[in-house]
Amino acid sequence: MCGIVGYTGRRRAAPVLLKLLKILEYRGYDSAGIAVANQERIDIFKRQGKVEQIGSASLLVGRTGIGHTRWATHGAPSEKNAHPHAYGKFVIAHNGIIENHALLKEECIARNETFISDTDSEVIAHLISRYYEDDFLRAVQKACVRLEGSFAIVVLSSDHPDKIVCARKGSPLVVGKGDRECFVASDLVALSSETDQAFLLEDGEYAVLQGAQPVFYDRELSEIYKEKLRFDPVFDCADKEGYLHFMKKEMNEIPSVLNKTKLSCVPEKDFNDFYKVLCQTEYIHIVACGTAYHSGLCAKYALESLCRVPTEVCIASEYRYRNPIIKPRTLVIAISQSGETADTLAAAKLAKERGAYLAAVTNVKYSSLTRLADCVLETNAGAEIAVAATKSFNAQLAVLYSVALLRKGEKEDFTEFAAYAQKTLDSAEAVRGWTPYFLGAKSVYFIGRGVDYCAALEGSLKLKEISYLPSEGYAAGELKHGTLALVDENTPVVAILTQRSLAEKTMNAVHETKSRGARVFLITSLPDIAANAEATSSVLIPACREEFTPILSVIPLQALAYYTSIARGNDPDKPRNLAKSVTVE
Ligand code: G6P
Repeated sequence: MCGIVGYTGRRRAAPVLLKLLKILEYRGYDSAGIAVANQERIDIFKRQGKVEQIGSASLLVGRTGIGHTRWATHGAPSEKNAHPHAYGKFVIAHNGIIENHALLKEECIARNETFISDTDSEVIAHLISRYYEDDFLRAVQKACVRLEGSFAIVVLSSDHPDKIVCARKGSPLVVGKGDRECFVASDLVALSSETDQAFLLEDGEYAVLQGAQPVFYDRELSEIYKEKLRFDPVFDCADKEGYLHFMKKEMNEIPSVLNKTKLSCVPEKDFNDFYKVLCQTEYIHIVACGTAYHSGLCAKYALESLCRVPTEVCIASEYRYRNPIIKPRTLVIAISQSGETADTLAAAKLAKERGAYLAAVTNVKYSSLTRLADCVLETNAGAEIAVAATKSFNAQLAVLYSVALLRKGEKEDFTEFAAYAQKTLDSAEAVRGWTPYFLGAKSVYFIGRGVDYCAALEGSLKLKEISYLPSEGYAAGELKHGTLALVDENTPVVAILTQRSLAEKTMNAVHETKSRGARVFLITSLPDIAANAEATSSVLIPACREEFTPILSVIPLQALAYYTSIARGNDPDKPRNLAKSVTVE
């Protein structure tokens, strides 16, 4: 899973490639590299680590080049495994997984070819080299026929220093056209920083970038016409604006994001269809991964309790292989901040193939998910750069709660929530004082019931992602069936209590952990609970409609993860081993 880019045109390639790669870093940052062709040779510069590690590559001379930012699948994150990979006259960058790479590699080794890296990708350069006679494009096509799995590839050849050949199957690739220049990238967000004209490459298609105009070919290499897409910039800017970390900046944007929330469709004309489907729907399936999955769980509680529509929430990687039962009048909602998560896309595709109406809740215009969906409900949270999702979660909840209210025939004004969120952010600063109790913890538990349980799951995920502390989110009533055995002296337990009718029940679990020596921290909208003397510390948040409280209660949990991460010396924006969106399964 990775980001790939290419440039050919009137400017020096290297600075453009580095700029585009920086935007694609959300897809991985284990290593980065670029290759730039000039009339004499192809120079490759690659390093382990983030794109900033290859900053000096901006000096490479040449007007045609490719680049890559990696999230390791096959082969450890290291310089030798960093892309681009070269063999013979060819240099490639690849996004995806070549499933038959071992077999192909054996074949090459039997031909006395040697490999430098442990990746599944290097074999692509070997195959192209084998099939090359004098036709660059034909050689790439012959190689692609041999590849199983998913790929988007960009290729340079020292015989053709002003040409890039691109191919895709299963992994995204978009081509852009500028003023006497062409671009290729894994997504439109990267392209939109340079041009407003793009062509979407489909599976089995090829593109040749040379001069001012890209040329497209089908599987058999017959030239094809592709419609040009004109698009607006996707995000204005992604700047820290004086904050130390993007994560903190993005949390502080939650009130303004909620202030902007308005349920609408893109394009707007689809809204009537969506409304009709929503009113008639008898079942809702929600598919998503990670934090988006947790927003789906929160939505289930609201949809079932307010609208009485049976709602199933499924982790996308399970749904896609589970042969789900999709009855007529099923609305499928795919939630994805990036709109690029491979498992979510596959689950959404499956649901659509089986006849479901597909609504997408996403933050990124023109993403793969928006192109697949029957209707797009945009979250409009603005660029989210920190890997751990924060404001996009709150924005997803605002949209999903609005969907529930629409079905119920009620109107809710989320601007009111903006003020509550601001108050919550202010009180959440107190969790900074909690971090000494968490730093050396063997494990941390987050507990709650009902919607508080959903918030607990998200709080635990946040802490794991950026502080690397083992933690679990648990249904408070379930603790006593096993997990309580793990609670001992000083185990931090964070309890979330926002529903009056369940508060006493959750407090029972709190007492049970406390009598085993746990240190208890409370996040609550109930003043009497906040005053509970048994807790080491409490944060009181504003009260709101009970079904919707995760939109606020998650804020101190995000803050807790953030401050713990910093106290442990981590980079909360770019946690180890993770990526902002996971574009391989
Ligand atoms: C990755 C990220 C998570 C995110 C998940 C789903 O695992 O690290 O923060 O929640 O992908 O991403 P999506 O873009 O589909 O919401």
